Amino acid sequence: MLTIENLEVVYEDVILVLKGVSLSVPEGSIVALLGANGAGKTTVLRAITGLLDIHRGEITKGTITLDGKPIHDLDATKTVAAGIGQVMEGRRIFTEFTVEENLRIGAHTAARGKVESGLDRVYELFPRLKERRKQIAGYLSGGEQQMCAIGRALMAEPRYLLLDEPSLGLAPLIVQQIRDLVVDINKQGTTVLLVEQNANMALSIATHGYIMETGKVVMDKPAAVLREDEDVKEFYLGLREEGAGSFRDVKHYKRRKRWLS
Ligand SMILES: Nc1ncnc2c1ncn2[C@@H]1O[C@H](COP(=O)(O)OP(=O)(O)O)[C@@H](O)[C@H]1O
Ligand SMILES: [Mg+2]
Repeated sequence: MLTIENLEVVYEDVILVLKGVSLSVPEGSIVALLGANGAGKTTVLRAITGLLDIHRGEITKGTITLDGKPIHDLDATKTVAAGIGQVMEGRRIFTEFTVEENLRIGAHTAARGKVESGLDRVYELFPRLKERRKQIAGYLSGGEQQMCAIGRALMAEPRYLLLDEPSLGLAPLIVQQIRDLVVDINKQGTTVLLVEQNANMALSIATHGYIMETGKVVMDKPAAVLREDEDVKEFYLGLREEGAGSFRDVKHYKRRKRWLS
């Protein structure tokens, strides 16, 4: 179980962006972390993986534990060793290296013998990557680059995989493929924390969902309940009224709606 309790994060000593976030990711589950741009989703992931400091961020309060052991003091290399893998937003692959070189880089912490079996596993999950293993990653399509980024994270054999908006900017058909892959990865035993703005996709495969607004968790419910929630439907599932998309968050949207009626 990965557990975050009452987490506060400050950037550049002054900007408080997480204001007491609590969430938990049980072993074996897919948990969705949803919310509009700027809500703090990426910051939660950075806090888990020890990447806050390179962004001039710092945990000022709260704890992050993995199976009861604190991990909020670990640096990025140690969180990988603890079993946490991450695919950052914007699929940061090494564009001038080949697909296979990218995957091997992902395995740099693994024992030598494990690299080949890791490659086999990734190529089985992503036949496209196998076909293109000698190609320069920068020439792949957006969807293939996302697969390469996910494959690279899997090379370290994480127990927990954190995905930051894997569907961003991809065509609906490719989003479906990524969605199915996340399900496959989870079925093979990897726990997933899925950050998405595409609530539809995320809630269709998650067991539990958290919705964040401006640094706080405002909803914390089973995914099935969130899928049926009227506000979530209206605001996040694309069933909202015309023009509502310009509102910052559900609270703001509801206030406007009351005011207009
Ligand atoms: N390195 C940084 N320095 C200062 N502010 C930041 C930094 N990174 C993110 N922020 C701010 O923190 C808030 C949350 O950002 P982020 O975690 O990226 O949200 P999300 O991933 O939900 O879009 C935003 O207001 C963003 O501008
Ligand atoms: Mg983000």
